[in-house]
Amino acid sequence: MAQTTGLPSRVAAQPSSLASSPKRAARLARAARAAFRPRHRRRLVSSSGTRAAAASRSRETPPLSRLAEACLSPSLSPDEAVLIAGGDGPAMTRGGDGANGGGQKQGAGKLPRKRFYRARAHSNPLSDSHFPIPISPDEVDLSQHYPRYFPAGEGDAAAPRIRFADVGCGFGGLLVGLSTLFPDTLMIGMELRDKVTEYVKERILALRASNPGKYDNISVVRTNSMKYIPNYFRKAQLSKMFFLFPDPHFKEKNHRRRVISMQLLDEYAYVMEVGGIIYTITDVEELGEWMRSCLEKHPLFEAIPEEEIKADPVVKLLSTATEEGQKVARNGGQTFQAIFRRISLQEE
Ligand SMILES: C[S@@+](CC[C@H](N)C(=O)[O-])C[C@H]1O[C@@H](n2cnc3c(N)ncnc32)[C@H](O)[C@@H]1O
Repeated sequence: MAQTTGLPSRVAAQPSSLASSPKRAARLARAARAAFRPRHRRRLVSSSGTRAAAASRSRETPPLSRLAEACLSPSLSPDEAVLIAGGDGPAMTRGGDGANGGGQKQGAGKLPRKRFYRARAHSNPLSDSHFPIPISPDEVDLSQHYPRYFPAGEGDAAAPRIRFADVGCGFGGLLVGLSTLFPDTLMIGMELRDKVTEYVKERILALRASNPGKYDNISVVRTNSMKYIPNYFRKAQLSKMFFLFPDPHFKEKNHRRRVISMQLLDEYAYVMEVGGIIYTITDVEELGEWMRSCLEKHPLFEAIPEEEIKADPVVKLLSTATEEGQKVARNGGQTFQAIFRRISLQEE
């Protein structure tokens, strides 16, 4: 029978009369609570047997209904919540934890699920990469990223260029938020982890399929921004760059892995237009100070006055649209932002 509650069948299928015994009612309530507990916690709190046994039991548990998942996921945009709530219920397949990321196949308009795109917490930005890299911005095939803006057969001389870059975009929340705020601006997320990049691609495809005419202006590329920014963008091409909740790399010997440094700011200044804005935010105070001090020391950036920052609609999204920002807000954490403008030097 189609299950619509999202509860495990052993819970949902109980005749209501069974709940009349107080002990049984308590047991049912415990099972219902367990069904809505995040999967990783379910494993940790398992009191009997090993982690593996608990994991195998949890595999037998049917997934939450899409509606329940929409309710539990604060990281969804309104269009995505509607997409899940109006979807086709429990028919969403769970796939498996196969080597290919779960072997999940998305139908048109179906949002990907993060659990099928599990990735290592960090990738080393200094190690060698094994993905295609364009040798210059001219080699970037924009028609693959933004088909609506680059119809087949038409020359792209007058076609728009990418203007915003979200560096280390993670699961793509900012891109989704910005897409509708700047519907005519092309923007791209740059992400090092392959499965996370795949997730963002599927997320965008699902949004496009279910909202015709929307979300055509966002895309994602798997790349190492610390090495390949000039391969993607021309001089003065970008009007906004985002570095939101970047990996902190706490140890001093790892500071060279940070995505903001004096040397990398030279590259960012090169690809940004004069007047362009660089947005940084973190919940790690020391990293916040580091990013601010790099920007303050750099001759091609100047701090934007507080009133201007308050009036910028993008600033709110730094915390509210990003997955990391939402996590920090849920935990009541503090954030530290540094927002600077690309300025010009006489000799430029
Ligand atoms: C802590 S997450 C923040 C994600 C997102 N900005 C947010 O706020 O939700 C940092 C992301 O940056 C990515 N990243 C780290 N170094 C990178 C690099 N050199 N190039 C591209 N992405 C990178 C990581 O894989 C990770 O997804």
